[in-house]
Amino acid sequence: MQVYKENILIVDDDFDMLEVLQRNLKAENYHVYKASSVLEALDILKNSKIELLITDLQMPGLNGMELIKYASDNFPDLPKLVITGFPSVDGAVEAIQAGALDYLSKPFTRKELLKSVKKSLAKATFSPKKESPTQTETKVYAGMVGQSPAFHKIVDLIDRVKNNRATILIQGESGTGKELVARAIHYKGSYAANPFIAVNCGAIPENLLESELFGYVKGAFTGANETRPGYFQAANGGTIFLDEIGTASQAVQVSLLRVLQEKEVRMLGARNTDKINLRVIAATNNDLQEMMRNGSFREDLFYRLNVVDIQVPPLRDRKEDIPSLAHTFLKKYQSEYGKKELKISPKAIEILKKYNWPGNIRELENVIQRSIIMSEDIIDVAQLPSWVKHQMPEIDPGLISLKEIEKQHILKVLAMTEQNKTKAAEILGIDRKTLREKLK
Ligand SMILES: Nc1ncnc2c1ncn2[C@@H]1O[C@H](COP(=O)(O)OP(=O)(O)OP(=O)(O)O)[C@@H](O)[C@H]1O
Ligand SMILES: [Mg+2]
Repeated sequence: MQVYKENILIVDDDFDMLEVLQRNLKAENYHVYKASSVLEALDILKNSKIELLITDLQMPGLNGMELIKYASDNFPDLPKLVITGFPSVDGAVEAIQAGALDYLSKPFTRKELLKSVKKSLAKATFSPKKESPTQTETKVYAGMVGQSPAFHKIVDLIDRVKNNRATILIQGESGTGKELVARAIHYKGSYAANPFIAVNCGAIPENLLESELFGYVKGAFTGANETRPGYFQAANGGTIFLDEIGTASQAVQVSLLRVLQEKEVRMLGARNTDKINLRVIAATNNDLQEMMRNGSFREDLFYRLNVVDIQVPPLRDRKEDIPSLAHTFLKKYQSEYGKKELKISPKAIEILKKYNWPGNIRELENVIQRSIIMSEDIIDVAQLPSWVKHQMPEIDPGLISLKEIEKQHILKVLAMTEQNKTKAAEILGIDRKTLREKLK
């Protein structure tokens, strides 16, 4: 795994185009910011170290030519690459006169894109060749601990985005540390003195979500006895963290889309809207791509949120982090449980490293807490929970029968419930008698 290379800002009003560009550039390890309008692009340009600007020319509102001119005046060293919608040589010539280094006319291939990008970056007067050392030392960053290359990559990303207000979408399985990443972005960045407001979109009742998010004015509905600001107003100047965004209802998705587009909110019952200036970070463990396919998540909202995307990898894909995390949790909890100077045996660490961690870092944290309670002065293999010690081998469903899958699954659930048949039967959705028969 490599640390990201240059920061590239891509600007196009066509979301599909942005996606294609992002995918191709990310595959080459560039770090990508997306903007769907010139105004959004200006915001990112001012606050981030952008090292290459790629922009479409034809856009509603301010167009790409104006962006090129602005960038040439204010960031003369920044290489600029122009994408032209139709083979209008005139536009390209004008863009080059305004400071663009090169142009690509649609449609172009991945190869042509990467060639132009490399060429533009190489022509830049500052060419920040970034080495990608394989860092392996333990790093502590805003309460996060890790030493894997994947962890260093996340920290590097946070450093790049923390000082601007570009919207960020954090995706990853449950318990991987998404909220910690969101907090790190806020508290390490330039707006740390302003509020960080976390909103769990799944926890607020549907009928209250709008008034909670956007506030209401006195008399907006029966019971609205006073004017009350919502989360968005409270977070103004800082960061609003929209957690579990995949659980937001259709109505809320529409409202959020409007806020992201207009950068203003309207309190329930108010005549006017208020301008807001904040950073939106959304997080989810849902597969939003799948939700877009089946129509439960709006595509336009996804693209608005996904200006910068951060994927937090599961713990099983960065097992190098396990020892430092285990020791951190040990330090954190031992005094809480009245133990002092507990140790973890190397053998126990080995076992922790072999386990698959479906619940990710949260599960590791729980396992360490539990083991602390079970231990006197050392956490050894004996003190680890049985499901961690007796992990079932990975099933390759391509090669075994349904009957075999059933057997393996039953044994796995039994191991995880520590052979508690009542609990296992409940999880498996069968009664105890059926379970007993199957076990024979
Ligand atoms: N790198 C890390 N170093 C130390 N602790 C961590 C790290 N990452 C996560 N944790 C801890 O793991 C737990 C889960 O993290 P967090 O709540 O951020 O996960 P999440 O991805 O938001 O999970 P969910 O999807 O279930 O909401 C927290 O107690 C957090 O403090
Ligand atoms: Mg969370």
